[in-house]
Amino acid sequence: MGRAIRLYEPTDLDALYDICLRTGASGKDATAMFDDPTLLGEMFAAPYGTIEPEHALILDDGDGRAVGYALGVLDTRTFEARCEAEWWPAARARHPLDPEGRRLDDLLIALIHDPYPAETAIVERYPSHLHIDLLPEVQGQGWGRRMIEMLFTLLAKAGSPGVHWGVNHDNHDAMGFYRHLGATEVSQDAITHHFGWTFARAGENPTGAGN
Ligand SMILES: CC(C)(COP(=O)(O)OP(=O)(O)OC[C@H]1O[C@@H](n2cnc3c(N)ncnc32)[C@H](O)[C@@H]1OP(=O)(O)O)[C@@H](O)C(=O)NCCC(=O)NCCS
Repeated sequence: MGRAIRLYEPTDLDALYDICLRTGASGKDATAMFDDPTLLGEMFAAPYGTIEPEHALILDDGDGRAVGYALGVLDTRTFEARCEAEWWPAARARHPLDPEGRRLDDLLIALIHDPYPAETAIVERYPSHLHIDLLPEVQGQGWGRRMIEMLFTLLAKAGSPGVHWGVNHDNHDAMGFYRHLGATEVSQDAITHHFGWTFARAGENPTGAGN
């Protein structure tokens, strides 16, 4: 069997952590940056599949192994509240805060203990948000486009008016990909470039994915 896109299953959880780490340095392998290999996944991948599996797409290598993901949430504020109730308490217990800590690990642990909410101006216009990461072996073969467009369609069908996501300024490859797709550049801060995509209203565009 060949590669195919399917919905997330609980058996993919370890792969979410792994893919997130191996693409976590602005699209490149972040393994050498952290003592604890799970920290990036705790924030940016694992809660998505666990809390909202109906909007979590997996690229399966044909053997059941996840080699990429596109993880969406329909409503960012609802997801933030559910993380506070269902995800962060256990994550905080797994990663105790060290107020004296000065490692990159400690910075992420501090964020797990005090996560920042998405910007109101962005969420009002684009209530959904997403993360997409593919392992190097499956990049540049059209899977990223297929996965993000499939996720757009899922979110639009579930009633979302639009989706946003963030990209590190120095992730030039991903920025080129999003610009090529025609995503809207919403705003920038010191670290992140924020992109958005507005969904056509029902009847305007049969795929639901338009900008
Ligand atoms: C960024 C990423 C999701 C893109 O997915 P991908 O599968 O590599 O990209 P695709 O092969 O689907 O490319 C889709 C289209 O974008 C174009 N494209 C891809 N990268 C591009 C770039 N840097 N500049 C311009 N166009 C680009 C392709 O030519 C293709 O065009 P076409 O469909 O019109 O023929 C993937 O490479 C990835 O996961 N990278 C590592 C992790 C990462 O950076 N994630 C994003 C964090 S915000």
